Amino acid sequence: MEKTIARAKSTVLIGLQYGDEGKARVMDTMLKDYQIVARFNGGANAGHTLQVGSINIALHQVPSGIFYKDMMLYIGSGCVVNPKKLLDEIKEIKSNKVKVDNRLFISGYVTLIQPHHLLFDEIYGKEIGSTKNGIGPAYADRAMRAKRSEIKNIRFGDYVYNHKKFKSIVRDNLAHMEEKHGLSEVDIDKQVDEFDKCVMQIKKYLCNDPLMIESLVEKGKSIFFEGAQSVMLDVVTGATPYVTSSRTIAAAAYTGGDLSNKYHYKTLGVAKAIMSRVGNGPFISEFGGGKSELYCAEGGGLDHVKEKEYGDAKPEELLASKDLFDIGKGLRMLTGEYGATTKRPRRIGILDLVMLRQNCKLNGVDELYINKFDCLAEFNKTRLPGIPIVVGYKLNGRKINYMPVSVDEARKVKPIIKYFPHIKEDISMFKEYGNLPAEVKGLVEFIEKFVETKVCGIGVGPEREQFILLPA
Ligand code: IMO
Ligand code: MG
Repeated sequence: MEKTIARAKSTVLIGLQYGDEGKARVMDTMLKDYQIVARFNGGANAGHTLQVGSINIALHQVPSGIFYKDMMLYIGSGCVVNPKKLLDEIKEIKSNKVKVDNRLFISGYVTLIQPHHLLFDEIYGKEIGSTKNGIGPAYADRAMRAKRSEIKNIRFGDYVYNHKKFKSIVRDNLAHMEEKHGLSEVDIDKQVDEFDKCVMQIKKYLCNDPLMIESLVEKGKSIFFEGAQSVMLDVVTGATPYVTSSRTIAAAAYTGGDLSNKYHYKTLGVAKAIMSRVGNGPFISEFGGGKSELYCAEGGGLDHVKEKEYGDAKPEELLASKDLFDIGKGLRMLTGEYGATTKRPRRIGILDLVMLRQNCKLNGVDELYINKFDCLAEFNKTRLPGIPIVVGYKLNGRKINYMPVSVDEARKVKPIIKYFPHIKEDISMFKEYGNLPAEVKGLVEFIEKFVETKVCGIGVGPEREQFILLPA
């Protein structure tokens, strides 16, 4: 029989830097052509901020299509779900008069984040600056399956089918953790009862049919896969151990999203014009290097929440400083770079085109979107001779055009910086690409050529309308 090529129906969107690139807002502008939005990786560690009219909400587990009235929402098997946090999130969404029931579906294959995962992350997650959502421990238990003949990984579908059995396993897992770490203050009964109650409350969203997404797409529905985290945080190809615990690359949509890759249509990548990173790990173009990494990590970050930093200094004065650390701090304040999940100050860096090129190529990005382009105008307030952009790497005096695999080696890489003419006006009110100042268009064209990927849109502010699509 002759093989027929499937109609292309599936789009994948991923982050190309260290997360928080503004993936949700890019999606939000293009969802009208889709009927399903699906998550395929991660859990409540994601913080996808959406600003729609007067509503400003950070979504963690619920897919970002929520504000489209008839959009179906799917949490795929590649995800890990925290039942309590999901319920809280649903409650917040509903309080904005947005309907959730009968359109949110969660794969029965998702791994449940158990109370002991959260405890473990609380104790050990600090080392890499995790969001303490139990993500790593949950994925570790998924791979571990069982230990000493006890079940470690619990999937949503298994739990719901036999919740008495699995409730007692959740208790055993927590009791072991408590015993091992001498955490006598943990109220095991209370935590396990609450966990059970929450899982049973989200039971109505359970999808037990592995063919559901496939059959909807086959019937003509278009699906949009929303990546969480970013390719630089990928558990295999990121700078381990400073990564998340899921696969975040574009292809992961078809392992964690419960659809065959034969439906793939296109891949969208999102970057940010001034980069940020939360948590530890190498960041070649960071303003202030190690000093900034340490400052942002200190005290689990909670000492440095936005309000405290604002009390410290005036951002404009910091920008005028000779110290790059100060410039990073000033930029963070002026561009509001604080974690949506943890409120931690994000480390700030120069747009790195070597990294961007590598990630566009590895993921086959068809369309590149760059957020916060308006923020580049802040460099006008610095002493720098122009807008700094990383256009090369040097390692031991030799030029390279990729990020080395070894994390220790990556820390030795020196960025090669090129300065572009300052943007002298506020571009946040522009609507048409053609009307933008020449400095903006010149930079966009340079980026496009360098990364060998079409730039299709730039963000010039947080509002839905502050997003400019480039002419095709
Ligand atoms: P979105 O989807 C930015 C980072 C954490 C930490 C590392 C491991 O909003 O872009 P984890 O809790 O996953 O074990 O933490 O990964 N991280 C993120 N950074 N954006 C995210 O998600 C992130 N999710 C995890 O800061 O360094
Ligand atoms: Mg985020």
